[in-house]
Amino acid sequence: MPAGPAPAFEQYLELNRERRLESYKALLRIPSVSALPEHASDCRAAAEAIAADLRAIGIEHVEVAETGGHPVVYGDWLHAPGAPTVIVYGHYDVQPVDPLELWESPPFEPIVVGDRLQARGAADDKGQVHLHLRATEALLATSGGLPVNVKFVVEGEEESGSVNLDRWLEANRERLAADLVVISDTGFFDGNRPAITIGLRGLAAVQVNVYGSTIDLHSGSYGGTVQNPANALCAIVARLKGPDGRILVPGFYDDVLPLTEADRAAFAALPFDEEAFRGSIGVPALVGEAGYTTLERRGARPTLDVNGVWGGFQGEGSKTIIPAHAHAKITCRLVPAQDPDRITELLVSYISEIAPPGVRVEIVPQHGGRPSLTPIDHPATKAAARAIEATFGVAPLYIREGGSIPVCASFESILGLPVVLLGFTPPDDHAHAPNESMDLRNYETGIRTVAHLWYELADLPR
Ligand code: BES
Ligand code: ZN
Repeated sequence: MPAGPAPAFEQYLELNRERRLESYKALLRIPSVSALPEHASDCRAAAEAIAADLRAIGIEHVEVAETGGHPVVYGDWLHAPGAPTVIVYGHYDVQPVDPLELWESPPFEPIVVGDRLQARGAADDKGQVHLHLRATEALLATSGGLPVNVKFVVEGEEESGSVNLDRWLEANRERLAADLVVISDTGFFDGNRPAITIGLRGLAAVQVNVYGSTIDLHSGSYGGTVQNPANALCAIVARLKGPDGRILVPGFYDDVLPLTEADRAAFAALPFDEEAFRGSIGVPALVGEAGYTTLERRGARPTLDVNGVWGGFQGEGSKTIIPAHAHAKITCRLVPAQDPDRITELLVSYISEIAPPGVRVEIVPQHGGRPSLTPIDHPATKAAARAIEATFGVAPLYIREGGSIPVCASFESILGLPVVLLGFTPPDDHAHAPNESMDLRNYETGIRTVAHLWYELADLPR
């Protein structure tokens, strides 16, 4: 196999630049928000659009497979005998768009702003799925084949915890036989420096419902005689973390792998501008667990955050009531070797124990996900580093990210496969937030990186 794609590959990409952008935009116009039931048919439409795209470029055995939730798109190209088989995983679902009023353009009407394409999903993760399809398209069109065997797995429930995917992986073990997984659902480091992600955090989530009276009470007639559910909820939340940023749930840190000297040195060596990071998010100061740096806190330490809290009167002015109920959504980001089920159990028992008297406290576990650390010295990771260097012109940084991709640990545990996290989004992509965007230069060069990686992998001893 040659060391990289033939010149015709680049010519094809140059000729098709506009068509490519139009096809990218078309995918972004489908409002495939997995968390909202009213968008279920849009999720299916996005799956069908990806399946149609795969078929059109020459991928075989394309199927929109049922999972019990939003479908998974599968397709493969297996005509490189003797070469490795790569699973390319991505997700077509996106996060909800609220607060809508903060978008400068409608979230499902993609527009080019400078060097960026702006829309929900432009970066996370439709843009990165799309760039893989375009690399495959250009290789198949210009060399009649791929240097490796490829199996695409594009799911529709990543943003809501991939709750049906493990079962689907288990049921499709044989069909998913491979040598490694490549996931493009991460991004570059601050300053848009090319990076390979080697660590992701896991997740444990609960909703806390605090119930008092059957209906709201007059706070004059009843105030002082009953427990207020909103006060009770705040009292609970106040006891979850100490002033030093440590989580107070007993046993929470039991399984956390401590940072080694080498881990700390790796974090310290990253070209991180803390003040720029602070400024970019608009906070007056950075705050976190005592004894750790900002990058360590984000990449290698667990967290507990209230994601939403509600109950009682929300309108203008005041209303003198004791609300009948109050609620909070809480998530913990987890690090190796914490287990989401264990952490959820600890949360449930601690919150039950500290619940004030006079209210009924219900703790409802939500979806979770395991953390993962991918091997930095795996030949496939090194191949990805060479592909980045060949196309972006610089060697990648190796980073541990704070976000989660639950299926990452599942590929390792269910299918026994190493995972390479090769993502291309800029750090200021506003993923999950208003005005999400993808840097089109990262997207374009990313297409070339993927093609290079397939050639690099073809040459690896198996
Ligand atoms: N693409 C992100 C994961 C990510 C975030 C990687 C930040 C690197 C940096 C992914 O789509 C995502 O947002 N995942 C969710 C998973 C959760 C719903 C289980 C997350 O991290 O919140
Ligand atoms: Zn994503």
